[in-house]
Amino acid sequence: SEVWHSVCARDEVQAGAMLPIEIGDMHIAVYNVDDEYFATDNICTHGFALLTDGFLDGDSVECALHGGCFNIRTGKALCEPVDVDLRTFRTRLVDDRVEVCID
Ligand code: FES
Repeated sequence: SEVWHSVCARDEVQAGAMLPIEIGDMHIAVYNVDDEYFATDNICTHGFALLTDGFLDGDSVECALHGGCFNIRTGKALCEPVDVDLRTFRTRLVDDRVEVCID
């Protein structure tokens, strides 16, 4: 079953920015791309690095540790050394809050 979690205010993540959040023991990254919100696992699939410590460029995020990159809309691994896709989560806005769905 799906559960929606209210994770931050929408203005805590400006366009072009990302925010690390935690839901229980899950590390999740929330992204704002042109005022559309996305969420993925925040831990790189290659090693233990938080993607929010890396660089967001449009809808791709680059890991700070070895430069792997992912499409944040789809989770698709885009460049070496990453070859395992990221888990993605649905988001929605409720009033001025961003919510993330865990299912
Ligand atoms: Fe992210 Fe190696 S830990 S590319």
